[in-house]
Amino acid sequence: MASSITAQELEALSSKANAAKEAAYCPYSKFRVGAALLTQSGEFITGANVENASYPVGTCAERVAFGTAVVAGHRQFKAIAVATDIKPPASPCGMCRQFMSEFTSRSFPVYMYDKDMNCNVITMGELLPNSFGPEDFER
Ligand code: THU
Repeated sequence: MASSITAQELEALSSKANAAKEAAYCPYSKFRVGAALLTQSGEFITGANVENASYPVGTCAERVAFGTAVVAGHRQFKAIAVATDIKPPASPCGMCRQFMSEFTSRSFPVYMYDKDMNCNVITMGELLPNSFGPEDFER
């Protein structure tokens, strides 16, 4: 079960993720992805996919959002929203699941929006069960 954020926060998060699609640089796939991250302190930080002529070098929207937040000093997060133009909504790729798990708990909610802003929500624990994380260095 996802931990809760307010309806107002979710409204802002989803519209920022949708708007962030406009910033995508995706000339190769033409597949726009927008992400918006809500920090524990209540700030919204966005990301979009940034592709590259050397295809594997491109970066997903989720990792852009988390990377931007982390370098701005944020380490704790309430939720992420990811918006794409497909239906039903896309869920984060495997590399993004691992990247996000570094900074999130199992109950961290991932809201996924399709092109009409229909929503699916899933937790990090569901997206990446039995994950390897920072706590494994303490054992
Ligand atoms: N992409 C994301 O930004 N996030 C995901 O979770 C899945 C895929 C991007 C990467 C690439 O620019 C495009 O979508 C097609 O794979």
